[in-house]
Amino acid sequence: MSKNVAVIGGFWGDEGKGKIVDFLARDSDCVARYQGGPNAGHNVKLRSGLKITLHQIPSGVLYSEVINYMGNGMVIDDEALIAERNNLTSKGIKINSNNLRISEAATLITPMHVFEDCITEISLNIGTTLRGIGPAYKDRVERRALLFSDLIELDEGDLEKRLKTKFDGVLELAKFRGITPESFEKWLDNDENRRKMLKDFLEKSYCPDKFIDFNKVLENKLKTRKELSKYVADVAFELYSAYSRKKSILFEGSQGTLLDVGLGTYPYVTSSNPSIGGIFTGTGVYIPLDKVLIVGKAFTTRVGNGPFPTEIKEREISDNLASDGTEVGSTTGRKRRIGWFDSVMARRSKMINGATSLVLTKLDRLDELDEIKICYAYEGNTNPFNASQECSPIVRKLGQYKPMYVTMPGWKTSTEGIIIYKDLPKQARAYVEEIEKIVGLPISIIGTGGNREDAIVRNISK
Ligand code: IMP
Repeated sequence: MSKNVAVIGGFWGDEGKGKIVDFLARDSDCVARYQGGPNAGHNVKLRSGLKITLHQIPSGVLYSEVINYMGNGMVIDDEALIAERNNLTSKGIKINSNNLRISEAATLITPMHVFEDCITEISLNIGTTLRGIGPAYKDRVERRALLFSDLIELDEGDLEKRLKTKFDGVLELAKFRGITPESFEKWLDNDENRRKMLKDFLEKSYCPDKFIDFNKVLENKLKTRKELSKYVADVAFELYSAYSRKKSILFEGSQGTLLDVGLGTYPYVTSSNPSIGGIFTGTGVYIPLDKVLIVGKAFTTRVGNGPFPTEIKEREISDNLASDGTEVGSTTGRKRRIGWFDSVMARRSKMINGATSLVLTKLDRLDELDEIKICYAYEGNTNPFNASQECSPIVRKLGQYKPMYVTMPGWKTSTEGIIIYKDLPKQARAYVEEIEKIVGLPISIIGTGGNREDAIVRNISK
């Protein structure tokens, strides 16, 4: 197996990257996250049946010898990070300053950012995870963010001052936007999921008559900085020195290429760069990649708003694909929208990331269907197989494209847990090979179930 590998979401996130990173991490020395934060939810199901969901901590943490890096491109919610770490350690997973290293230059998310995410959603309605991601990145770009090293190193008075400036700013914004405590409560109740999504914020920092309890925010920060100081690192340098010592590094993307703030279906995107460029700016060092794996499900899903050309309209089919109950956001509990495999988007993603292979997860979810569609082109494109022309992700244009499908026969038998390619029914192999042909990439790994071991490995050299 080659050494430095990137695992990148090829579509709109939730492709099952956690399982793939976990699968590959056992052969890696280091795993590095380079963007995103607690908006991610990477699931791994262990043989014991224990399901682990990782949000900020890299998925390599499940192997005690792997060193996990959280890069400068990440936005870090310190309170949520401690809760995540404690949850993992309560399950017997070892986390210490030897196997978890957090970039001093990462951006801090505070409860004020979570509140700002809510205020912004009231006008923009992107369908964000309400984890404060966009506002934290916005502060970074505006050069007013608190860095992870500020949390740890500023003296108490300066930290309080910086937090207070953010607190005052966000209250002013609420006032400017005409948001009152009453209208905010109404907004919270408008969607059944909102209070659930904001559970931590509502429990720890919310104050109904003035939105945020500043004293609690400060108190919590003074606690978290003590607990997190041991993990602070110059991640760029440590990764560089691991690379110099010929250690193998796995780069773990979160979200997906089509949610990239620069390259995705803007404005229905996250605020970071999940695609390949984010690796170098988000870890702070150029490390040549031996393999770039883009991950997609054997069908497509999307959470949140925004265009989705291959979305399935027939409820019976989408309900069937979601019937294992896993098609809900791991972070937010929202139902995912379901669509057919979209080769046009896959080719775009291949182009953007310089992918060397495609990973197809959840093939077994198609087991019960009579027929399965693959979108091979969008009607109205001048050249359906030219990735650079065919599917501009500009939302206005994307809405006008109509997907064209090839229909493949289903296999109507269980593929769950199959680990050898030739053991798949021939219709399932035909489906996989048709996607390889249409996308123009080898499929290196095929997921066949929820457990850690349920995967067929083919073309691993790609
Ligand atoms: P944000 O990242 O919370 O700002 O959300 C922006 C958009 O990205 C919304 O459509 C979210 O549903 C989507 N999103 C963010 N994180 C994930 C993820 O981990 N999986 C899938 N979608 C995500």
